[in-house]
Amino acid sequence: MTQPAAFTRLTGIEHPVVLGPFGGLSSVELTATVSNGGGLGSYGLYGYDGDRIGATASALRAQTSKPFALNLWLPVPGEVEPEPTAAEFERYLEPLRPYFAELDLPLPARPLRYLPDVDEQIAAALEARPVALSVVYGIPSPALIAASHAAGIVVLGTATTVAEARALQDAGVDAIVASGAEAGGHRVSFLRPPEDSLVGLFALLPQVADAVDLPVVAAGGIADARGVRAAVALGADAVQVGTAFLATDQSAASRAHRLRLRGPDAAHTVLTRALSGRLARGLPNRITAEVTDPAPFPVQNWLTGQFRPTAADRGNAVLSLWAGQSETLASETDAAALLRALAAALD
Ligand SMILES: Cc1cc2nc3c(=O)[nH]c(=O)nc-3n(C[C@H](O)[C@H](O)[C@H](O)COP(=O)(O)O)c2cc1C
Repeated sequence: MTQPAAFTRLTGIEHPVVLGPFGGLSSVELTATVSNGGGLGSYGLYGYDGDRIGATASALRAQTSKPFALNLWLPVPGEVEPEPTAAEFERYLEPLRPYFAELDLPLPARPLRYLPDVDEQIAAALEARPVALSVVYGIPSPALIAASHAAGIVVLGTATTVAEARALQDAGVDAIVASGAEAGGHRVSFLRPPEDSLVGLFALLPQVADAVDLPVVAAGGIADARGVRAAVALGADAVQVGTAFLATDQSAASRAHRLRLRGPDAAHTVLTRALSGRLARGLPNRITAEVTDPAPFPVQNWLTGQFRPTAADRGNAVLSLWAGQSETLASETDAAALLRALAAALD
């Protein structure tokens, strides 16, 4: 654990409240709202190429002059290579055929690539000069840390276990996001399989705070003032809140997603690989029940990504309904009001 206020000093923000980045679901409006309110708005760049990253940073700067963070998924060696053969691609597509059919969509052809070039993403993110660059799924390279620091950018690494937090500190990151198993979205473990890294925040946070000499940002299950106070009591310098902001008016979540987030069954989340090929927490739907043998990431994420936007437009819930375990604690619909309520916990 470091000094109180270490994280706010490091990033130049007023309140130690970070908006969780939402790869694929971040919104400029929500990110800017949190930054304008004195928190650290974060924007997830998953799937964005360099041009889109530059355009997003410009859009953010048009809506806020306050600090914001950008977020990248680091490549996991060996995961994308070798790409599936045509026959493997057909086999992966097979269980998803019914969803394309019910949405009247043609089956997709095998793409040239499943993800943008990560070096292009990194170059564009550095060029955008956010106050902070947060990363998941691994340890940023010495070159990425050095380039970030040379540009005055703070690097946040994300740990799901104490061993990951130590490894990130040893690599030279500036702060650690300690992500408990309650969190919505992907379980971003990198030293052990995510199924073996399901540590709840109450256990993870004080152990990470003891293990590292860096500011610690607590993530997972924090949705109201009580959670903020508990996190600080357990050694957090700041909190990162995702799901509670996802249901606010400023988020990019679709109507079908919001209806489920605010619905009677929002407390029941599952861990599933069905939608992306990687383990993630969300609300159950037909896909999480029906797809039992998904393609590996990133193929499955690309495949479901071919019908998820149409499903969202049509109010069909065959999409990723990412959510954490504390969604029902979040009653605010306005992101600025939610930020104020979270920040007031520390007054
Ligand atoms: C829809 C969704 C997408 C997410 N995408 C990312 C991401 O791309 N990068 C990341 O670091 N964290 C991602 N997260 C995790 C959040 O940033 C945050 O750490 C987490 O939601 C905190 O737990 P909570 O949902 O219980 O508040 C995502 C979470 C959700 C709900």
